[in-house]
Amino acid sequence: MVDLIKDNIIKKTPDVVKSKYPGGFFLDNATGVVFVSSNSPQYVSGQIRIRGRKNGQYPFGYKEILEEIFGKCSSCGEEIEVCSGWVKKKPNLMTVDINPDRDPIHIGDGQSLPVDWTNRFERWYCDPPYNKRTAEKMYGTQLPSWTKLLTEGARVTKPGGLLFLLLGDVNLQWHPQGTTRIGWLVLSIIPNQEARAIHVYLKNTDAITERLIQKETQYHIRNLNSYL
Ligand SMILES: C[S@@+](CC[C@H](N)C(=O)[O-])C[C@H]1O[C@@H](n2cnc3c(N)ncnc32)[C@H](O)[C@@H]1O
Repeated sequence: MVDLIKDNIIKKTPDVVKSKYPGGFFLDNATGVVFVSSNSPQYVSGQIRIRGRKNGQYPFGYKEILEEIFGKCSSCGEEIEVCSGWVKKKPNLMTVDINPDRDPIHIGDGQSLPVDWTNRFERWYCDPPYNKRTAEKMYGTQLPSWTKLLTEGARVTKPGGLLFLLLGDVNLQWHPQGTTRIGWLVLSIIPNQEARAIHVYLKNTDAITERLIQKETQYHIRNLNSYL
């Protein structure tokens, strides 16, 4: 087996990496580092290596990593797990899956949730099938639209709440209205080295929306001034 450090293939030691990048946080619950850099303080990115599980279940320690980075769900309101699969029931967690055999609390389509769930949940988690083939072959479903799932997620999440969408090796350059993209974390799955990506969004509060409008207005004024 190759040892990237001992075999001198990677020249930097982890300590050098740490001191060079003060915005980096090493994780306790997995091998990985995430960054919030001073020139981009609004965005967390990173690379995490984590052990996979069978049936496309969340990798080991997935929720623990999110809690390590974003903290536990505050004083805890309800959370929602869409495309919940084998996720176990627990208090304050609404599970939603289209397949009744997975025994979710709510059997239904994550692209169209009950109307009276608007602004209900502190955190929205979603782990849909990643492509048409796995949707049909592994789960016996159609591939849901990620943008529709996210749009419903944004509706049912409270302002100030967080949304976590786990996908395959993609960076979805889109966010639903009323949310801000605040992170993208790459997972390398052990042992098959497949890539997954956690897309993180913040449901805007009125204050955040106001700040975004101010920033946009300043941008347009700057552009206008450059023409005058
Ligand atoms: C990758 S698995 C989720 C695994 C889950 N994270 C776990 O740890 O067990 C995908 C799940 O999405 C469900 N699913 C597929 N389409 C759906 C839809 N439109 N709405 C809700 N659930 C859906 C499937 O039935 C399957 O259980």
